[in-house]
Amino acid sequence: MAFPIPTTALITLFLFLFLFRVSSGKGLPDSDVDLLEFPLNLEYLEADFFAWGALGRGIDHFEPNLTKGGPKPLGVKKAKLSPLIKDIITQFAFQEFGHLRAIQETVPGFPRPLLNLSAASFATVINTAVGKTLEPPFDPYASDINYLLASYLIPYVGLTGYVGANPKLKSSTSKKLVAGLLGVESGQDAVIRALLYERANSKVHPYHFTVAELTDKISNLRDKLGKNGTKDEGLIVKPAEGAEGRIAGNVLAGDKNSLAYDRTPEEILRIVYASGKETHPGGFYPKGASGNIAKSYLHHHHIEFNQV
Ligand SMILES: *[C@@H]1O[C@H](CO)[C@@H](O)[C@H](O)[C@H]1NC(C)=O
Ligand SMILES: *[C@@H]1O[C@H](CO)[C@@H](O)[C@H](O)[C@H]1NC(C)=O
Ligand SMILES: *[C@@H]1O[C@H](CO)[C@@H](O)[C@H](O)[C@H]1NC(C)=O
Repeated sequence: MAFPIPTTALITLFLFLFLFRVSSGKGLPDSDVDLLEFPLNLEYLEADFFAWGALGRGIDHFEPNLTKGGPKPLGVKKAKLSPLIKDIITQFAFQEFGHLRAIQETVPGFPRPLLNLSAASFATVINTAVGKTLEPPFDPYASDINYLLASYLIPYVGLTGYVGANPKLKSSTSKKLVAGLLGVESGQDAVIRALLYERANSKVHPYHFTVAELTDKISNLRDKLGKNGTKDEGLIVKPAEGAEGRIAGNVLAGDKNSLAYDRTPEEILRIVYASGKETHPGGFYPKGASGNIAKSYLHHHHIEFNQV
């Protein structure tokens, strides 16, 4: 009579573990879970950057549960925006809250990682892109143009990540989610690019380069950091690089058949860490991105470091 109780307990335990596993990942393959969790890193950044930029408050104010208790972002603030841009960025912010919820309802997710969204953090990227220290430093929060240029930095990277993740996904639930995220993310990128395209030949005050020139330099920097060829294009290109090799205007970026470029999580980490190395956090993620994929590289880095 001693057996039935432990056996029942064991079965209950297995059942519990099984149910927990299923309900925490909706029965998705582990590789899908990792690929779906990875973009949370970028969605957290976009949600806070857009909400703070337009409304002066972030996820913590509007939807605190979506942060899953992660630390507050550093240095983010309200931007000086005209009514039209403020309206559009507010819509983007609320869209990002939905994206966070949709991902978190499909996979367990992780708390918001520490984000460095200070003006200095953006200024550092822009200095690297233009190859000199700008004086005064670039301030993403100072005007419509500056804020749109800072916004040019992020959704596009997310977009290439969704394009890259899609063929690796196994379940139709995952593919459906990624298609939905990709659609709106590329829409945001298109709106940002179209607004900048209207201003392509304007100078980025008080500097001597134009909006188009800066987008070109930012795109080149991302390709350089990503270390995997050309996957990025500014607003005005050599006609040979435009659609069908026939046009210099480049309101949307795409490959020779105007298909969206793809990036792997490794390439994305190299870019958003601004270090060119998925093992070396920095840039917008001072302590690194979260989730199994990003953490696997931080762990390697630690081992390498200990071995040196
Ligand atoms: C946020 O989480 C708390 C604690 O789990 C819960 O009671 C509350 O209903 C949640 N709020 C929303 C809006 O989901
Ligand atoms: C945020 O970024 C700026 C510019 O790179 C840097 O000076 C600052 O130390 C960063 N903050 C943290 C906590 O990493
Ligand atoms: C480089 O890009 C190609 C195509 O976009 C991709 O298949 C490959 O996995 C990437 N390599 C790395 C190391 O990220």
